[in-house]
Amino acid sequence: GTDQGTSQFTAAIDQGTTSTRFFIFDERGEPVAKHQEEFAQIYPHAGWIEHDPYVLIQSVRNCIEVATAKFLAEGYQPKDIRAIGITNQRETSVIWDVRNGKALHNAIVWADSRTAHIVRQLKLKDGADKVLEMTGLPLSTYPSAVKVKWILEHCKAAREVYDEGYLAFGTVDSWLLYNLVIGESGEKLHVTDVTNASRTMLLHIDTLDYDPFLKSFFGLEKLLLPKLASSSNSIAYGTMESGPLKGLRVTGCLGDQSAALVGQKAFDQGMAKNTYGTGCFMLYNTGNKPVISKNGLLTTVAFQLENSKPVYALEGSIAVAGSAVKFLRDNLGIIKEAREVGDLAVRVPDSGGVVFVTAFAGLFAPYWIDDAQGTIFGMTNYTTKEHICRATVEATCFQTKAIIIAMEKDSGIKIKNLAVDGGMSNSDECMQMQSDIIGIDVDRPAMRETTALGAAIAAGFGARIWSSFSDLGGVNARNHKRFTTKTTKAQQTSQFRRWERAVAMSKGWLT
Ligand code: G3P
Repeated sequence: GTDQGTSQFTAAIDQGTTSTRFFIFDERGEPVAKHQEEFAQIYPHAGWIEHDPYVLIQSVRNCIEVATAKFLAEGYQPKDIRAIGITNQRETSVIWDVRNGKALHNAIVWADSRTAHIVRQLKLKDGADKVLEMTGLPLSTYPSAVKVKWILEHCKAAREVYDEGYLAFGTVDSWLLYNLVIGESGEKLHVTDVTNASRTMLLHIDTLDYDPFLKSFFGLEKLLLPKLASSSNSIAYGTMESGPLKGLRVTGCLGDQSAALVGQKAFDQGMAKNTYGTGCFMLYNTGNKPVISKNGLLTTVAFQLENSKPVYALEGSIAVAGSAVKFLRDNLGIIKEAREVGDLAVRVPDSGGVVFVTAFAGLFAPYWIDDAQGTIFGMTNYTTKEHICRATVEATCFQTKAIIIAMEKDSGIKIKNLAVDGGMSNSDECMQMQSDIIGIDVDRPAMRETTALGAAIAAGFGARIWSSFSDLGGVNARNHKRFTTKTTKAQQTSQFRRWERAVAMSKGWLT
């Protein structure tokens, strides 16, 4: 279908933990062209996860090229794309020398737990008690600042450049923008958006500016930090420097979980979404005020439109979700394709007493146990791979339940239904299990590439395609599917109690 001139397409780069995608969406938020590529995970030691920063750039270039070729083959032109958004795995940290743009270390990935000992020391340091209030994040291996601190302590080349005052830091959005776009006079841009910056532990959650106390707390005073911008922005993110989209404007940038919230159109206070990716992340919109959790959740910037107040969220982060399914496939070999896991899981009526605490990188929300390790409990001769698959899916579902309980305590409001998206949400079986475990209905939109769509929506605001949320009425409005709970409260409670016992027993393996 070609109706050039009237078509308003938006596009999105989605650079995730295990794959990169590029999407071109029509006005209704339906993808008209897309391409996805997995890339190599680097596991140098137990608990370590790295990405090659140049592989990340190349995977983005490939996805743009292949998807755009499909779009052009439909008879459209690059200029029909009115706005490009970028969204990314958060916290993952890249450092480079600003004199030549060269990365000096592999990216340390968000789920990497090599910094557990640094975190233990930091917790004893003067001022440690202020960090949660200021950043909304508990001290853990998760945020960027501890990863960069590790690099400065272990990589001589990076240390030297840092001492000379030329070491630049960026989350993945920032690194990609530095390499893919240019500013008005052809200059390189070192920029990030407030949602990504809120995951570094260097940003003050109230002022939305980098904080001198935080920089000195982590010993990062001389680190060159990216300039801060709103998530949708008409100028800050420049234009594509080369490739088939050369000259097109990037007008949106936000962390992938923020993007999923926007893609679900959860714009109002009290709305929540749960995204099942490599990890699994629930965000609960708390409006224009940051709420500091008393129950193990994070406070994060949800999104900020240009010239608007920021919107905040409470977040429940689960470190391992899709990556546990990948583990069954690549490490244990008990499935060939990730999507088999749901089918196998429902071949048995329950997990046969097996509980799998998938704590490959410690446990995140709401537990925050850095030294928990992956543990399978309750195996007997009766146990089959079906039980293991079921316990693997249930692990994410139980952690989701723990997060819902924490959110209800923090907000004082009962969550009525859960909007879901991402890989595991494609499985009817898995979503039924999720509803059965939490005792809450699960709502799944027809279009599940919510993360990319959210980045495209943010870009559309930056490019003035839309000016208010009501303009988005027709976007991502296709029929949702609802999964209703089929278990009793008593069943839910006894199952969850067993999970919590298993969590308690998975502590302390590394000490
Ligand atoms: O905080 C990490 C998160 O942004 C990664 O998301 O979808 O790659 O698991 P995902």
